[in-house]
Amino acid sequence: MNEPFNWGILGLGKIARKFAEDLRLIPGARLHAVASRSKKRAKAFAKEFEASFYYGSYEELVRTPELHAVYIATEHPYHCENTLLCLEHKLPVLCEKPFAMNRYEVRRMVETARREQTLLMEALWTRFLPSFRKTLKLIKKGAIGEVISVKADFGFKAPVDPERRLYNHALGGGALLDIGIYPVFLALLVLGKPRQLKALARIGPTGVDEEIGITFRYGSGKMAHLHASFLATTRCEAYIYGTEGTITIHPRWHHSEAVTLERYDHPEPKEYSLPLEGIGYRYEAEHFMECLERDWIDSPLMPHSFSLQLMEVLDAIREEAGVRYMQDEVG
Ligand SMILES: NC(=O)c1ccc[n+]([C@@H]2O[C@H](COP(=O)([O-])OP(=O)(O)OC[C@H]3O[C@@H](n4cnc5c(N)ncnc54)[C@H](OP(=O)(O)O)[C@@H]3O)[C@@H](O)[C@H]2O)c1
Repeated sequence: MNEPFNWGILGLGKIARKFAEDLRLIPGARLHAVASRSKKRAKAFAKEFEASFYYGSYEELVRTPELHAVYIATEHPYHCENTLLCLEHKLPVLCEKPFAMNRYEVRRMVETARREQTLLMEALWTRFLPSFRKTLKLIKKGAIGEVISVKADFGFKAPVDPERRLYNHALGGGALLDIGIYPVFLALLVLGKPRQLKALARIGPTGVDEEIGITFRYGSGKMAHLHASFLATTRCEAYIYGTEGTITIHPRWHHSEAVTLERYDHPEPKEYSLPLEGIGYRYEAEHFMECLERDWIDSPLMPHSFSLQLMEVLDAIREEAGVRYMQDEVG
């Protein structure tokens, strides 16, 4: 692509800033337009990241001339409506994880992308990182034999603030949808959809799951052991155990820079160093741009079918653990 690729960002919080920083690393990409509920915030953000257009409402952004794609960086409860707004204006969408609040919302998003013939992809950045791709490659080529089980955790001590999104029920707060989604994503990608699942959550005073433990079991007896917490900073390591060895994705595994392969028949573990360029958001953005260049409306690496399955499993975990949101009343 010779012309610059013009990105827009909708919702200018923490992740928007990180994404904008990494966009600077992509040849040919630039931040073109930004939208916030606050025009002042949009103006300051546009100035810092040299965006040509800024708006004090999301609706204005979709009318920006020469806008090629929109990255949605609002809180989870707004992902669905923000995505529909863009898709209905034929604007390709890269939307933050979790894709939405439940499977009904994800279905609406996917149906709209198909109807409008417009690219839509979940911004699950881990899927595109070199360490993660290496892990999948090692598994595929049989480096650890047949996978038997997956163990992964993601925990950090998040200060309690009932107003901010992590603990705020109305803003989709809770450990599962914010960070538990990563271990669930890993298990789904490596082992597929479980036949049976068990989950227990600790629900805090603000009504969100502050900690959750999840176990998957598969028809073949394979298992996944997953944990997420806002109450403690955990190791954030992922292990994939096979019949012939183990792969460890080093901390913090969801944006890791190293993977170790241990084989039972070999005394020396082998460590692969896979440094990230920037924070790690450029990889998903570059893949998205490539999909668009090929006129795809669905990504082969993060397809709609996977995002739907991921959300169906998250819904099933929530049901099992007693975690509900107001969006569930509508489905
Ligand atoms: N991929 C990753 O590594 C990663 C990391 C962190 C978060 N995330 C995801 O990214 C999303 C945003 O997370 P964040 O940490 O950036 O959150 P944040 O700092 O709270 O920012 C979210 C933005 O959403 C917008 N917003 C729209 N309606 C809102 C409302 N009613 N109340 C509050 N804010 C509202 C606000 O932008 P304006 O005021 O500018 O409109 C706000 O700044 C979440 O879905 C999260 O899961 C992903």
